[in-house]
Amino acid sequence: MATERKPEFFKSSQLKVGIIGCGYVGLPLALRFAEAGHRVTGFDTDAEKIRMLNSGKSYIEHIQQNKIQQYVNSRHFGATNDFSRLSEADAIIICVPTPLNEYREPDLSYVEKTAKSIQPHLQKGQLVVLESTTYPGTTEELVLPILEKSGLRCPIASGMTNENVPEDFFLAFSPEREDPGNKQYGLAQIPKVVGGVNPPSGRAAQALYAQVVAKVIPVSSTRAAEMAKLLENIFRCVNIALVNELKLLCQRMGVDVWEVIEAASSKPFGFMPFYPGPGLGGHCIPVDPFYLSWKAREYDFSTRFIELAGEVNTAMPYHVVDAIAEALNQHKKSLNGSKLLVLGVAYKKDVDDLRESPTLKIMEILQKRGATFDYNDPYFPQLHKMRHYDYSHMKSVPLSPATLGTYDAVIIATDHSSYDYAQIVDSSKLVVDTRNATRRVMRNRERIVPC
Ligand SMILES: NC(=O)c1ccc[n+]([C@@H]2O[C@H](COP(=O)([O-])OP(=O)(O)OC[C@H]3O[C@@H](n4cnc5c(N)ncnc54)[C@H](O)[C@@H]3O)[C@@H](O)[C@H]2O)c1
Repeated sequence: MATERKPEFFKSSQLKVGIIGCGYVGLPLALRFAEAGHRVTGFDTDAEKIRMLNSGKSYIEHIQQNKIQQYVNSRHFGATNDFSRLSEADAIIICVPTPLNEYREPDLSYVEKTAKSIQPHLQKGQLVVLESTTYPGTTEELVLPILEKSGLRCPIASGMTNENVPEDFFLAFSPEREDPGNKQYGLAQIPKVVGGVNPPSGRAAQALYAQVVAKVIPVSSTRAAEMAKLLENIFRCVNIALVNELKLLCQRMGVDVWEVIEAASSKPFGFMPFYPGPGLGGHCIPVDPFYLSWKAREYDFSTRFIELAGEVNTAMPYHVVDAIAEALNQHKKSLNGSKLLVLGVAYKKDVDDLRESPTLKIMEILQKRGATFDYNDPYFPQLHKMRHYDYSHMKSVPLSPATLGTYDAVIIATDHSSYDYAQIVDSSKLVVDTRNATRRVMRNRERIVPC
C-alpha cells in the first residue's frame, strides 16, 4: 500500500532533515534548515568533519563557527556517520561530490554509494532529494532503481493525470546554486529549481524548500531540473571562453579587453559581462559541462560549444606561462632558472577552495619549463596532496617588500581582496597580472604586464 503521507506534510515546521555530504553545499544547507527550526542531522563519511561539527567547529572559511555551535547547542544540528539513522529522517538531501574521473567522464560513484547507503534504511513517506550536479537522467536512471531495491516504489510519471499517482516514497532533484563567498546572494535569497520523479514528489520537494528559500521554481521532471543546472554552468563556461579568446585577440591588436568589457557593459539590455582569467577553476564550471557532453554521446549528439569552450579555457594556463616567459625575456631573463612568486592558489578571490584551480596547472607548467617558484595565499598556509597534483612540500611564503624584491617576477593568479596591490607593484621587479587586479595602481605601472 502506498504511503499515507501527503506532499503537504513537508510544509510542517518541525521536520527531521538528513543531509548527506557536509561540504560546501551540504553544510550551509543543513544550517539553513536548522535556522528555520527543523532538526537536522548531517551525514558524512569523513570522521574528522563529524568530530569538528559536533564540537561546534567549522572547516569552511565562510561558514561561521558560532552558527554551528549555536545549532549544536540548541540540538537543531548534529552530525554522524551512522547511516542507519537515515531511517529517522522525514527528508534526505544528497549533497555528495560529482567529479570527473581520470578519463574526464562523470564519476557518479559517490552518488551511487550514497543511494546504496540510503536504500536499507528507506522508509515509507520519506522524501529523497538529489542536489549534486549531474547529467539529465541521473535521478531516474541511477538513484531511483537503487532505492526501489528496498521494495518501496516511486513511479516515474508526469502530467495532470498523474497529479496523485500513488507512491511509497518521494524522489526529486533540486540543483544547488551556492556561490561560496558571494555576500550579495546567500542560500536563502537564491531561488531553487525543483523537479520530481512524479507530481507528488515535485510538490513534496517544493513544500520542503519553500521553508528555507525565498522562491521555489517547479519544473515538470527531474531531467528538466538536472538540465537547468547544466545550462547555467555551460552558459558561464562558454561565455568565459569567449572573453578569454577575445582577450588574446585584443592583446595582439593592442586593445585593452577590460576597457572593452566595461564599455560594452554600459548597454542596459542584452549584454552581461564575463571576465577573462588564467583559466577555469572551481568544482563546477570546469567539470559540469562535460557531464552533458558525455551523456549527449548516448544520443549520437556532439555538444560542440562545450568542447570548443573547453579547448579555449584549457589553453589559458599555457598562455599565462608563455606571457611570463615573454615578460622575462624583455628583461633579458629566461623562464628556465628564474625565481617566481605566485600570488593566489584559490580558484577565485576570497575563497578557501582550490579545486580545479588554474594556478595549480600554471605551477605544473612552470615546473616543467624549469622555473622555480614560491606561492602566497592567505587562505592556504600550506598545500596538500591532491588528485592530480602534489605540492604538499610547499608552504605559503610571507609577503614583505624585502621578499617581493627577491623574485624575478610576481604572478597575480588570484586577485584576493586582502592583497595590497600598490605595495606589491612597488616592491616587485616585474608583475604579471592575470586578473586586472592592478588596474587602480598608479605608481610603477611599467613593471606591470597584463596577461
Ligand atoms: N561547491 C559549490 O560551490 C557547488 C555549487 C553548486 C553545486 N555543487 C555541487 O554540489 C555537490 C557537492 O559539492 P560540494 O562542493 O559540497 O562538495 P564537497 O567536496 O565540499 O563536499 C562533499 C562532502 O560529501 C562527503 N562525502 C563523500 N562521499 C560521501 C558518502 N558516500 N556519504 C556521505 N558523505 C560523503 C565528503 O566527505 C564531503 O564532506 C557536487 O555535485 C557539486 O557539483 C557545488
